[in-house]
Amino acid sequence: MAYLKPERPEKVNAPSLKVSKQRGERLVCLTAYDYPTARIVDEAGIDIILVGDSLGNVVLGYGNTVPVTLEEILIHLKAVRRAVQRALLVADMPYGSFHTGADDAVRNALRLVKEGGAEAIKLEGGHKRVQLVKRLVDEEIAVMGHIGLTPQSINKLGAYRVQGKTADAARQLIDDARALEEAGAFAIVLEVVPREIAQLITETVSIPTIGIGAGAGCDIQVLVLHDMLGLSFGKLARFVRPYANLASVMTEAVTRYADDVRGGTYPSDAESYALPAEAAADLKISAPDKDSRSAESKARKS
Ligand code: KIV
Repeated sequence: MAYLKPERPEKVNAPSLKVSKQRGERLVCLTAYDYPTARIVDEAGIDIILVGDSLGNVVLGYGNTVPVTLEEILIHLKAVRRAVQRALLVADMPYGSFHTGADDAVRNALRLVKEGGAEAIKLEGGHKRVQLVKRLVDEEIAVMGHIGLTPQSINKLGAYRVQGKTADAARQLIDDARALEEAGAFAIVLEVVPREIAQLITETVSIPTIGIGAGAGCDIQVLVLHDMLGLSFGKLARFVRPYANLASVMTEAVTRYADDVRGGTYPSDAESYALPAEAAADLKISAPDKDSRSAESKARKS
């Protein structure tokens, strides 16, 4: 029997990432937080979409990820879920949602899966999360690990710095990665670690590594969408390549709109609706002629 070639590449799922690693395929991950951007990212063929708690930095204006709540992740996740068809959809477990016991963590992760439509969850931390990862995997939840720079630890770390720079710290990262793999994680984010260590971890574990600021040796790369599109404020980290400057495109559009309204050129008749002649006659309304409108607008300007 002849099978038709699917028009779109196959749906990505957690186990298929390991197959892609074995085949040496370079997959791509981006964050998204709302319907329009998630549609664009999914339709562009990005393989993994993460509703990250970077939401706190780039959308909610918190300045860091610590205040982000499960309810906030859920609202954004549901919008993204409605848009995504092909990519694997992963939701972040925000700070506080997995710190008060395994039962709470399972309950919260299940909300992301059942209410939010996430196909996997991500949580920060290495060896100290191993028991929790095992438990979540036992409950049929696909878990992505996250080690290296863990932004939820900002109050303890004091600053966002490269992690794993000493031999001991690097060994710890490698052990963390192994432990997460053994616990059943299907992939591990490596955030801001020296590229040599990321490469070593990538060669050590059989599950894919997802690098952000971790060099080209990782199996998959991820960036925060707003950073690479020029929609976030402040200095970009060295690993962010600016692919667009949407902030300046938006500023220009918004400024032109304001100028047009203030100058009386927006809206035009073509951008509004005329009253049908019969109703106008009944109401004894005469349509203003164009000359009188432009005279009015000139008077307003002067
Ligand atoms: O929240 C996020 O966007 C992340 C990525 C940087 C991996 O955790």
